[in-house]
Amino acid sequence: MGNARARVAVFLSGSGSNLQALIDATYAGTLHAEIALVISNKPDAYGLTRAKDAGINTICFQEKSFASKQAAASYLATALGNHGIDYIALAGYLRLLPESVVKQYKGKIVNIHPGPLPKYGGAGMYGHHVHEAVLAAHEKESAASVHLVDEIYDHGRVLDAIPVPVMADDTPDTLAARVLEQEHILYPRVLQALIEGQYGT
Ligand code: GRF
Repeated sequence: MGNARARVAVFLSGSGSNLQALIDATYAGTLHAEIALVISNKPDAYGLTRAKDAGINTICFQEKSFASKQAAASYLATALGNHGIDYIALAGYLRLLPESVVKQYKGKIVNIHPGPLPKYGGAGMYGHHVHEAVLAAHEKESAASVHLVDEIYDHGRVLDAIPVPVMADDTPDTLAARVLEQEHILYPRVLQALIEGQYGT
């Protein structure tokens, strides 16, 4: 790829602290990429504000505002193409990507998950639901995990994970905060390794 920086689109639905970690890593030079586009299904997601503050183009993408799923998918594919996107990073995006986009970017889409996979993943297993389930099962450890994305929620190959200890007095909120700190370390690292071809995808 020479010296051209990989162009990354980040999809989110919320606060975007992982987006911020990726942006910061590009500034720090630990992530050799350009976050070229941020897409949210929620117009009021704080992650869009973070993107605008960093001078990144944003798109609000809501499938329901299109006449058909195909029309939505083709709009999205065109937007990604227009921005020259090479990689997609899902960062708290609470929707499935259109199947055609998943196929087109096979091996180049990652997601960050706030728990151990595959045990604490799948439809409905997001945000505080993950931490509640980990605590209910009296696990000694949770994890920040990054996996490749396929057509099924939280199903693709786990590329890397950082274990996070569970404390006796943890609440879902305290555990979430401890996991999130590790997410911010893990995500730029995995994305950089993916771009370097270290996972053989
Ligand atoms: C993170 O915990 C991530 O693992 C999950 O959604 C949360 C997003 O947080 N997929 P943020 O919007 O990046 O702050």
